[in-house]
Amino acid sequence: MEVGGAEEDGDVEPYGAESLVRPVADEPERAAEAALRPRRLDEFVGQRVVRDQLSLVLQAALGRGRAPDHVLLSGPPGLGKTTLAMIIAAELGASLRVTSGPAIQHAGDLAAVLSSLEEGEVLFIDEIHRLARPAEELLYVAMEDFRVDVIVGKGAGASAIPLSLPPFTVVGATTRAGLLPAPLRDRFGFTGHLDFYDDAELERVLVRSAGLLGVPLDVTAAAEIASRSRGTPRIANRLLRRVRDWAQVRGDGMLSLAAARSALEVYEVDERGLDRLDRSVLDALCRRFGGGPVGLTTLAVAVGEEPETVETVAEPFLVREGLIGRTSRGRVALPPAWEHLGLPVPPPAGTLFG
Ligand SMILES: Nc1ncnc2c1ncn2[C@@H]1O[C@H](COP(=O)(O)OP(=O)(O)O)[C@@H](O)[C@H]1O
Ligand SMILES: [Mg+2]
Repeated sequence: MEVGGAEEDGDVEPYGAESLVRPVADEPERAAEAALRPRRLDEFVGQRVVRDQLSLVLQAALGRGRAPDHVLLSGPPGLGKTTLAMIIAAELGASLRVTSGPAIQHAGDLAAVLSSLEEGEVLFIDEIHRLARPAEELLYVAMEDFRVDVIVGKGAGASAIPLSLPPFTVVGATTRAGLLPAPLRDRFGFTGHLDFYDDAELERVLVRSAGLLGVPLDVTAAAEIASRSRGTPRIANRLLRRVRDWAQVRGDGMLSLAAARSALEVYEVDERGLDRLDRSVLDALCRRFGGGPVGLTTLAVAVGEEPETVETVAEPFLVREGLIGRTSRGRVALPPAWEHLGLPVPPPAGTLFG
């Protein structure tokens, strides 16, 4: 079922294997996740708009007895793109083939996958923005005309034999919709954009997962874990597993509020879902650099990390949360950063001397 070893959201993260609040999953974690994946659209929590629209697309296609339009799913890692791709196939009663942009090295790899598709199958292409250009061009034609040109022979004697394909549906997933070339984007009849979940939705994800894991999760603990999960179901499920460990080893097996707090303290995930690196960036910015502006490289040296790590691993969430700002002169601490560290918020520049 898997073609060429699918990778997931591969944007490589040098830091973070030891952190609980990074949105990307590693290989062992994917096995744990598979057990928690909703199988049908009505089990999928939140994302009401996308769920509604998708449900129409799928029901209409089923009613007509035809493969639906190609579907593009975009959004940050850990929000449910892979889960939805699997759900689409399940709802259609179709089989699913899985591959990814990075797994397809040559156009020929993609031609081989396409020419083996059977009628009505769903082809899931994860990280579709990382497809190589020649493969991308082959894919346009296949998606639009259900045709693939198979190259026979080599060099000057090579010729292209057009092969027509049975109707099928491409489900593409991307964390970077902006990187998709317009011609490829245009071939998708439906695009669903996934957004961060609110705490109430994450609580429902957690309650559902606890049920599947067979662990007693208190509602107050669910709320506590949800509020530290950065709007991301993957992180919520991960924190839940760690709280379960704590409850089993150091507690009485109950996932209570106290157990959740103690476990997350051990793992250094604070009330806002910040980890050690996030906090040391804030700390350096406020305490050492007076709130900035300070250049990325200087800031990175202060926390003992590579600038790239600070920029790609820590900053996106800190910026999203309104804790820090990026200006042309460097990084600045915003008032919530000071508050989070328990420091007095300095008066805005310019008001100091009247
Ligand atoms: N809406 C949802 N309801 C319940 N669980 C979800 C939902 N979205 C994601 N998850 C869970 O979060 C984890 C990551 O989801 P996944 O589909 O792999 O994210 P993505 O492909 O966008 O990175 C999976 O274990 C999945 O079960
Ligand atoms: Mg995925």
